[in-house]
Amino acid sequence: MSVNTAKNRLDYQPPAYVISQVELEFELLPSKTRVLAVSQLRRAEAGATSLWLDGQELQLISLTVNGKDWTTYEQRPDGILLRDLPEQFELCIRTEINPAANTALEGLYLSNGAYCTQCEAEGFRRITFYPDRPDVMAVFTTHIIADANLPFLLSNGNLIARHQLADGRVRVSWHDPFPKPCYLFALVAGDFDELTGSYITKSGRNVALKFYVDKGQQQQAQFALESLQRAMKFDEDVYGLEYDLDIYMVVAVDFFNMGAMENKGLNVFNSKFVLADAQTATDTDYFNIESIIAHEYFHNWTGNRVTCRDWFQLSLKEGLTVFRDQQFSAAMGSATLCRIDAIKTIRTAQFAEDAGPMAHPIRPDVVEEMNNFYTVTVYDKGAEVIRMQHTLLGAAGFRCGMDLYFQRHDGQAVTCDDFVQAMQDANQTDLSAFKRWYSQSGTPELSAILENTATGVRLTLRQQTAPTKDQADKHPLLLPLRYELHDGKGQIQSGLLQFASAEQSFEFTDLQLPVIPVLLADFSAPVKFSYAWQTDELLYLSQHAQDGVARWDAMQQLWSDLVRRSVRDGQLAAIPSGLLDVLGQLIRSPLTDLAFSAELLTLPGFDTLAEQYEQIPVEMILDALESYQQQLATLFNADWLDLYQRLAPAPYRYSEEQTGLRALRNTALRYLLRVTETPDSLWQQQYTGSDNMTDKLAVLQALVRAAHPQAQQMLQQFYLQYGHNVQLFDKHSALLASLGTPQVFALLDQAEQLAQFDWKNPNRVRALYAVFGQQNPAMFHQADGAGYQRLASVIGKADVINPQLASRLVTPLLSFKRFAPARAALMQQALSQLQQQGLSPDLTEKLNKALH
Ligand code: PHE
Ligand code: ZN
Repeated sequence: MSVNTAKNRLDYQPPAYVISQVELEFELLPSKTRVLAVSQLRRAEAGATSLWLDGQELQLISLTVNGKDWTTYEQRPDGILLRDLPEQFELCIRTEINPAANTALEGLYLSNGAYCTQCEAEGFRRITFYPDRPDVMAVFTTHIIADANLPFLLSNGNLIARHQLADGRVRVSWHDPFPKPCYLFALVAGDFDELTGSYITKSGRNVALKFYVDKGQQQQAQFALESLQRAMKFDEDVYGLEYDLDIYMVVAVDFFNMGAMENKGLNVFNSKFVLADAQTATDTDYFNIESIIAHEYFHNWTGNRVTCRDWFQLSLKEGLTVFRDQQFSAAMGSATLCRIDAIKTIRTAQFAEDAGPMAHPIRPDVVEEMNNFYTVTVYDKGAEVIRMQHTLLGAAGFRCGMDLYFQRHDGQAVTCDDFVQAMQDANQTDLSAFKRWYSQSGTPELSAILENTATGVRLTLRQQTAPTKDQADKHPLLLPLRYELHDGKGQIQSGLLQFASAEQSFEFTDLQLPVIPVLLADFSAPVKFSYAWQTDELLYLSQHAQDGVARWDAMQQLWSDLVRRSVRDGQLAAIPSGLLDVLGQLIRSPLTDLAFSAELLTLPGFDTLAEQYEQIPVEMILDALESYQQQLATLFNADWLDLYQRLAPAPYRYSEEQTGLRALRNTALRYLLRVTETPDSLWQQQYTGSDNMTDKLAVLQALVRAAHPQAQQMLQQFYLQYGHNVQLFDKHSALLASLGTPQVFALLDQAEQLAQFDWKNPNRVRALYAVFGQQNPAMFHQADGAGYQRLASVIGKADVINPQLASRLVTPLLSFKRFAPARAALMQQALSQLQQQGLSPDLTEKLNKALH
């Protein structure tokens, strides 16, 4: 498609007509579902007489205005334009849709025999003709008519009626009293197991909590239910926010494009983020379930009660809600660990996005396909931008800002500017300098110099942001910097700096060089920071920084310095003895926070290291990482074994303490499996003897990463034993796809042939190919380009079925400019070949940006 459908943020126009109420009636049939939509409209723009209704892949049956057949309209492929409309009218539209043929998983579709909807961002237009834009908010009533073999007929709000019809079918009615945009509409119809719980809100209202899962999986929703209760409590305690309906429902489906969706009162979840028990889920799965359940719940206020005026404002709800779910996770477990997780996401995926052809600010200015903007920039950098406001205003000031935001905007569709305005007004402060974070893309690079002065030391800071694909001119940003200045003898000065210009100096008294600085404690701004630390200074910080994140960061910096030197010299740099001492000490006597110890003992990943190079030296990074891990495995072999044996597992429970123990023990296991002296019985015992999936999977991961001779055979065994369970089938696929040897290509072929594999199911495809593209650098970047060819052909195949899925898989190919010419050419060639095929708008937007 060559038509340019780009939309600009600044072209926003308020709706010509608004809708107070809409009544929907669905008659469900797999390939012929009838939809009746009756809306009450009122003119909002003086003099307007025409109205645009979005509509896609709909069959129009009839259209009336105030009960009369309406003929003054123009039908186009993407909607209809109604003309000559009165000031106020009832619009009645009948359409027919085909859920069974819907493989894009937007609008109404079938997932394993159950009907379900996905309307964000622009899926409602595949259900009926409607102004499919978030600033049109209406009260929805929904009637669902279906055969009795679909016992659960669900929609938003409260159940108001259920009737048996004369023909044996059932008709149920739901009413949602809160006006909402159509992207929050949901309908689910199917046969499920139901898990019920309840929550009493702080003002004493009883809310029914209901989870709908595939038959036989009721118990596996228990953890998600408890997570929901914890999230509800957290939002009351921290933000004073209470739930507002009598019922909160969560449906788990296997066919889903994303993680989950916050539809009002009726969340729809990818089942892998609901279902968990010790036998099928890992500690990481439990963590993700708790955080995503909380995320969708928190949307009830940040997203639903107050929503976005237009999709350019997506970060208004997503950045804020990610920040809120991160706060929640930090309160439920180790705050440092949560922060480290978030930092890894920013330093790998987000920095890469900024450096690539899809670079955009957290509030984009130009969008072709909205589905392409559900990005790490909008979500995760967006959360960092909220976090910086929290840092600048303090927890109490931030809370005042939130209170004012809800006071002003409850029930409205608003902008990011409105949010910052509330923060500003509640704190009587000026955030105008800060606001550039919303409009500027790219990653600021911060550097620092320290000098002695007559009275103390001077810290000179510089910042600079390189031009990005979307924006040539960059300006300084306001950076909140949490610093610690160490004199190396135990004296520390710490605080918060606000650095807002290209260059600025700050003076500190009662201090003389040498001083060891920490400038981004807790990663207080999403920037790249460079400083000429000496090795022993980093070693000092790794032990003595007050902030846990800074201690971890010092270790990461030590390793990335070593890799950088190795790459520069074309020869492996020796690990300094001081670093070996610190590591040895940690292995022999880990810190009380075992999970944190595990992080300190783990080298940075390929992606983190790669982000520091303008041209990524793939083999050299991989070789250096490999050699260093091998050295640590060999040097500390006895200590690893000792550590492993001391950390005896207890019967499985998901708790902070146990998770930490497993993380550290499995770190030891990973090193142990790299040396041939380790007897097979060690990992075999863990594999067969453990009572949980975390420890079983850790064995397989360690075998795969060490390219152990028995890795493939064990994968096969795992498949035979567990492959009938889809979650475990996906774990098997992911392990296969991350095998760093050329056999991986044949294994991928075989995996596609397995009975459980299904090109129409995004979870199945992602488990193989998102993992292959993003977590198997050795084979994806294989020098002959076989990895690129493979991914491109998969994307071509997926695009015909599900454009959103295809468009997400293409990310690793887009950044070809970051690689040496021979490799870049192969990547580019794979993309160009893909472009030969007629592609979806989703892929078209990305490929056009990447290739031009
Ligand atoms: N709004 C969802 C969330 O962040 C994500 C989503 C977007 C799901 C688009 C489906 C489609 O919670
Ligand atoms: Zn969200």
